This record gives sequence, structure tokens and C-alpha cells, in this order.
Amino acid sequence: MPTHQSIGGATDEQLLQRMVATHAERFGEEFWQFFTASVAPHLPSSPTIVDLGCGPALFLKDLGERYPAAALYGYDVTPAMVEHGRALACTGAKPVVALLDATMEPLPHAAGSAHLIGMSSVLHVIDEPLPVLAEIRRVLRPGGVFLLNDWIRQPLADYLAWRRDVMGEEDEAECLRRGFRLFPVHSKYTTEDWLWLLGQAGFAVRHRARMRPAHEVFVAVPDGNR
Ligand SMILES: C[S@@+](CC[C@H](N)C(=O)[O-])C[C@H]1O[C@@H](n2cnc3c(N)ncnc32)[C@H](O)[C@@H]1O
Repeated sequence: MPTHQSIGGATDEQLLQRMVATHAERFGEEFWQFFTASVAPHLPSSPTIVDLGCGPALFLKDLGERYPAAALYGYDVTPAMVEHGRALACTGAKPVVALLDATMEPLPHAAGSAHLIGMSSVLHVIDEPLPVLAEIRRVLRPGGVFLLNDWIRQPLADYLAWRRDVMGEEDEAECLRRGFRLFPVHSKYTTEDWLWLLGQAGFAVRHRARMRPAHEVFVAVPDGNR
């Protein structure tokens, strides 16, 4: 099963530290404005929320502060991420974080039990996304929300410039080596491809927004007609 670390040649610890360091830019004010307008109206005050590929579990921590009575679950295939999530000091609801490979195992939740399932910067790396989307659809309640936040295709030159200028990868040779290995993974799907995939998996997209130049957020609900 390919991961960002295995493709790009980073260690688990390096990916963990990068996810922690960039969390505030990825889940900043613009994201929460979108969440408040497009996701929150679908949620009760004590929602059941799952984050698949939760990384350091900081998104769950943020959600726990906004929804102190929530039941929060995070799953990730990388042990270092799970350890980080389990060690978090939380002022709100505390997530339950567990090791799980979304391509190999079902989610340990009953059908129709989750109000919100999030997947952020994960689905593009999974070779066969449709079985994972089917599992998400199984676990969501009718009217529940799948919040997909992921990369969209961009030109090679823009991607390499982003790695150099924004990610601040200083060693130019290493920056190019990782960039060429990860470009086909990060630049795999267009917005239209994501919309098609979600439609194939039985979701109807209610809202979407371009958060950063190469990331799109989709708010999808199980299509009642399927
Ligand atoms: C780029 S990180 C994003 C982490 C987190 N969602 C965030 O936005 O901060 C991708 C995460 O997906 C996890 N991942 C990749 N493949 C996975 C799989 N098959 N099952 C579960 N987690 C997976 C990785 O371990 C990593 O933590």
C-alpha cells in the first residue's frame, strides 16, 4: 500500500512534523468559515465524527473544541500519527485514535452511524478509491456528510515551485527528487474527476470550495436515490 512517505522518501516522523507544522494553514479561518456555512448546519450538537487518515488528529482536536459532546474517532495507517493523536491534550471532546488501513479493513462502525466523515489529503494516494468511498457511504447516516478535502491537478512547474517556495525544501536536489516522485500522486485528479468519483460512489455534492490554489473541499451527502 503506497503512502506519501514511501513514495516521497520521507520518514513517518518527518511527515508527522510537517502535518503538525502546516495544520493551521490548512485548517485556517477560511476553512472554518466554509465549515460553519456548509457542514455545521447538517450536524446535531453531539455528532459522531470519523476522520479517516487523520494524521496527527489535530482536525479532530479542533472539532472536539467546537463540539464538546461529540464522539470523535480517528484512523490512520501510520503508527507515529496514531501515537501523536492518542497523546494529545484536549480541552474539548477527546478523540479515540486507532491504527487502521482504509484499503484493507472496514471501519469499526455500524452502518448509518456517523454524522460526519472527513478525509483530508488522503484519498488521492489510495490506488482504488471506490471501495473506500463505499465503506464511508455505508457508515454515514442518511443526510450525514462526507467532507473530502484533497489535491486537484496543477501544472508541474507550479507544483515544483510550491515545494521550493512554500514548503521551504532547501536542498534543491532533494526538493526536485521528492517533487517528481509526488507530482503524479498530488496532481492525479481534476475537480471534475473528484465530482465523477463521488457520483460513482453514490454521493451528491452539496457544496464545494477551492481553499488553496491546488486544493478543493467537497461537502457530499449519500444520494437518497441509490
Ligand atoms: C498528508 S497526511 C494528512 C493527514 C491529515 N488528514 C491532515 O490533513 O492533517 C495523509 C495521511 O493519510 C494516512 N494514510 C495514507 N494511506 C492510508 C490508508 N490506506 N489508511 C489509513 N490512513 C492512510 C497517512 O498515514 C497520513 O497520516
